[in-house]
Amino acid sequence: MFALAGALGTADLPAIKQRYAGRAMPTLAFFLPALFASGVLLHRRHPLGYATAAGQLVWLAPTCLPSLVTPVVADARGHAAGRAVTLPIGGLLLAVLAVLGRMLRRPAPEGHGWCSSVHGMRVLVSGAAGTIGTVVCSGLVDRGHEVSGLDRVPEPEGFTGDWFTADCADPDAVEAVFVALSRSGGPDAVVHLAGLPTESSLPDQLESHVITTAALLDAMVAHGVARIVYASSNHAVGRTPRSELLGVDVRPRPDLFYGVAKVAAEALLSLYVDRHGIDAVAARIGSFLPQPESLRALSTWLSYDDAVRMFDACLTAPDPGFAVLYGVSDNTRGWWDLAPGRALGYRPEDDAERFAEQVLAAPADEERDAAEAAYVGGPCATDAYIRPALDASGSGA
Ligand SMILES: NC(=O)c1ccc[n+]([C@@H]2O[C@H](COP(=O)([O-])OP(=O)(O)OC[C@H]3O[C@@H](n4cnc5c(N)ncnc54)[C@H](O)[C@@H]3O)[C@@H](O)[C@H]2O)c1
Repeated sequence: MFALAGALGTADLPAIKQRYAGRAMPTLAFFLPALFASGVLLHRRHPLGYATAAGQLVWLAPTCLPSLVTPVVADARGHAAGRAVTLPIGGLLLAVLAVLGRMLRRPAPEGHGWCSSVHGMRVLVSGAAGTIGTVVCSGLVDRGHEVSGLDRVPEPEGFTGDWFTADCADPDAVEAVFVALSRSGGPDAVVHLAGLPTESSLPDQLESHVITTAALLDAMVAHGVARIVYASSNHAVGRTPRSELLGVDVRPRPDLFYGVAKVAAEALLSLYVDRHGIDAVAARIGSFLPQPESLRALSTWLSYDDAVRMFDACLTAPDPGFAVLYGVSDNTRGWWDLAPGRALGYRPEDDAERFAEQVLAAPADEERDAAEAAYVGGPCATDAYIRPALDASGSGA
């Protein structure tokens, strides 16, 4: 760097050599360990190793440090000063390398170890044309990820990546998507949003949430894709009476067949984590809305921006194994534990309280509010939602 700068300023090469003699080593002493450390973090899929501006800065700083510091010290003390700078900071870097060495002793995640460039991860999003999919796809692209979309409806206007129109419940169709993607390196991770967001019969729900998850998981294992982030739901525990703070370690307690299917999909993720060593994160989403519109949503709201933050964190968290978190914003009236999300690096920034005055000014629906206050899943725990598990065919015959 010095030589280049010098060469730009003068053509007197012997003078340049003499001037910068003894300063190449300090620069290399920082640059090489920094390069190695960045490589280890990249391999470990750590956010500081790839995809983020922070990661780039962290490793750029020690690399540039000797170039900035040594000339000052050297001018003050002569050439030997380069060493005085290198030794203490070099020692610090060695300590960092020791920690990284310990990280390397654990097995790297399966799949594309050196996958992601500095531009982010390659992510396949199912249900990409849906309410959450549209927001999350563009948010992940803004955060530097390369996003491919998969949905049973055609590509929506404005989508920028590869698009696949296919039914996720059809394993052959899903396999064909992964084969097509593997031609350009394959995805690093899947975000699985495809599914019915409302209640229906048990077989419909199982197909929509469990069979689709199974088809994606089998294709991931076949193609070495190491991570899935799943849009689970608070209805997986919807029948739980409301408490002060709901953790993720409570008994699965669905309030709908929809919730039953979410519990089963989470169980399937857990099985594949144990059998195949992939990472699977299930986000039990609360109320994904532009803004909260009811008393309950003041507690359960997940803002659009926080949803993007959450999926990004779930995609990039180092080694989550099998993890569950609640997908809600940092709501003042929230009663779902945000600690499991924070442990994965999810830092929500929105709070439904901003809309409290507006929500509370609307005429109160006391019956609805009482039902919503009783159970985690709100009114879905009431008798109004009771229906047969199986749609009777040929009814009336
Ligand atoms: N919206 C919420 O507040 C909320 C809360 C909790 C959980 N979730 C979950 O998040 C996911 C997305 O919800 P949403 O609100 O965006 O729903 P949505 O209906 O708006 O979007 C779902 C998308 O998935 C697609 N899809 C459905 N079945 C498919 C299949 N078999 N193959 C391919 N594509 C399929 C649909 O065409 C649609 O584009 C769902 O799994 C839902 O259960 C949503």
